[in-house]
Order: sequence, then structure tokens, then C-alpha cells
Amino acid sequence: MTRVFSGIKPTGHLTLGNYLGAMRQWAAVDQHQADALFCIVDLHGMTVDHDPARLRRLTRQGATLLLAAGLDPELCTVFVQSHVDEHARLSYVLECVATDGEMRRMIQYKEKSARERARGGSVRLSLLTYPVLMAADILAYGADEVPVGDDQAQHVELTRDLAVRFNQRYGHTFVVPRATLPQVAARVMNLQDPTSKMGKSEDSGPGIVYLLDEPDVVRRKVLRAVTDSGREVAYDREARPGVTNLLEILAACTGGNPEALGDAYESYGALKKDTADAVIEALRPVQARHKELCADPGYVEEVLQRGAQKARAMARPTVDSAYRAIGLLPPVAEPALNAAR
Ligand code: TYM
Repeated sequence: MTRVFSGIKPTGHLTLGNYLGAMRQWAAVDQHQADALFCIVDLHGMTVDHDPARLRRLTRQGATLLLAAGLDPELCTVFVQSHVDEHARLSYVLECVATDGEMRRMIQYKEKSARERARGGSVRLSLLTYPVLMAADILAYGADEVPVGDDQAQHVELTRDLAVRFNQRYGHTFVVPRATLPQVAARVMNLQDPTSKMGKSEDSGPGIVYLLDEPDVVRRKVLRAVTDSGREVAYDREARPGVTNLLEILAACTGGNPEALGDAYESYGALKKDTADAVIEALRPVQARHKELCADPGYVEEVLQRGAQKARAMARPTVDSAYRAIGLLPPVAEPALNAAR
């Protein structure tokens, strides 16, 4: 059976981009068709300045939202990254396979480190090395497929390179995974700046629809979305990024085709109204389930505990194999130690 792994980092409130680009696919398709693991990757939430209490809160909220979005712990494994030591254990080994040059070429590193420096802040070393930790997340489970939005494709490419390099140097250890992207909404853009991604860690609230935004807030944000200078509704990422983004969102929420939808609208106003309605309807069941789950925090904790147990058992043998293959001496087993005493 195909093994699927994906993750989401608790650096902000989850957005419509996270939902349409990743989570929805995990719930609707991946958990039914594959042996799937989904992880709140909390270690990744510490690569920029962070507040410990907020990280804890967002980790819990992220896990609750994954379940609210339809992940079923009877069908898939849901867990928190830091509950499973194998991620950090493998990450260091992969750092010994990755090069400084390839890490510095990562687009997200270039963008985020430039932003951090412009603010006068210092850049954490973990911002540079975090794609290696992401590779460890994936490779520890022998995942065949990694369902992600478009912005993570480069990191999955790096993961493939590291797996191939490790296998060639030290013997076959890792499955070489591939990224799977949704057909529509692989890159949902900020409603106020449709040339940049709708990202949860950005500051621009009005351009970002959060999964827990009230319906009237969603409506206001969509109706105020920046559109383009022309009047015609047409699907064209280069020339009409604002309208194209709305068409992608509408298509993702209603199951339509964004280009065909472009032909069906005559005015921006009608497109915005229908998009707002479609987003509100798409989020309604997620918000309702989230409310129920918040009333039962013990359930979420139990799911995470069971998930971590299952994940640990899956990752351990692969990470042990990688340790042996790269030349680390296995620890002496307990019974042998006792016999020697
Ligand atoms: P993160 O937390 O930024 O995003 C989680 C998932 O949501 C997708 N996504 C989007 N898709 C479409 N449009 C958007 N505007 C948008 N914003 C986010 C992302 O592509 C991603 O699939 N490094 C990863 C987390 C991670 C991971 C992993 C993913 C850590 N280890 C292992 C897969 C496998 C990240 O920062 O995602």
C-alpha cells in the first residue's frame, strides 16, 4: 500500500491556503487510499523568533483543526512531531549528507532570511537547516508520496536528492518520495496582494482567510479582494492574478474548472459574491466540528498519544537502519550487557 506523509507547521492560524492546498486532499483522498501519516511539525515552528506559549497553543489548535477538517484517526495517523524522537535523530544524519550550498539555494530560506535581516533581526541556524528536518520527517516513514502545496515542492525535491545520495553512498535505506500537488489551488494567493502566497506567518490579515474566520469576516475579506485593472473576468495568472486567484478558490470550493468558470462570469462583483459564498460553505463543517472538538480536549490528546505511539514504531526501524548504514556503532543490547556483568 502506498505510504503518504505530510505535515503542517504551527506558526500561525491555519489558512484557506493550507486547507485548499493540502488538508482537504488529505481528508478526502489520501487517508482513504493510502497508509497515511499527518503531523503537526512543531519543531519547524521554532525557526524564527517564537513565543513558547503560543507555539503550544497553535500546536494543539492545529491538531484539532486537522481532525475538524476530516482526518479520521481510525483511517490515518495524526501526531505531533516532537513526540517522536526519530525526526531529530534522523535529521542530524541527513545534515551529514546535505551540503551548505544546496541549503542556501532554498527559496524559502532566501526569502525569510532576507526579511529577517531587513527587520534588523538575526537569522536562526535552524531556518537554514529546516528543509533537512523536513526530509527526515518524510524519509523516516518510507513515504512514497508527499501531498503538499506548490511552495513545498522544492523541499520535496531536496528530500529526493538526499535519499538518492544516501542510498548511493551507504546502501539502499530510503524510499525516494514524490510530491503530489492538487490540480487546483496548489498556490492560493493573498487577497490583498495576489502576487504573493496566502501564508499563515505573514502579517497582512485582510488578505488572508483563516479557517476559523466568522462568515461575515470571510465575506468582507473576499469582497475586498484586490482585482486587476481590466474589467473582463478571465483566467490568466500573469495578466490577471487577482481574478485568477478568486477563480482558483471558487473552483476548489465548488469542484469546478477555473478556466471554464472564468468564461461564466461577466463582472468582478458576481465572481466575488459567489466566491465568498463558496468559501463560507466550505468552511462551515470544519468550523462546526472544531467547536465540538474544543469541547472535548481529552479526545484530541488521546488521538495524539495513540498517533505518536504508532508513528514511533513505524519510524524506528528505518532510522536505526540509517544509523547502521552510515557507520554508527549500534548500542549493546540490555541482555548482552547484563550477561557481561
Ligand atoms: P506549511 O505549514 O507552510 O503549510 C502546510 C501545507 O499547506 C500548503 N500551503 C498552501 N497551499 C496552497 N496555497 C497556499 N497559500 C498555501 N500555504 C500553505 C503547504 O504547501 C503545505 O503542504 N515545511 C512545511 C511543513 C512540513 C512538511 C514536512 C510538509 C514539515 N515537514 C514533511 C510535508 C512533509 C511547511 O512549512 O508547510
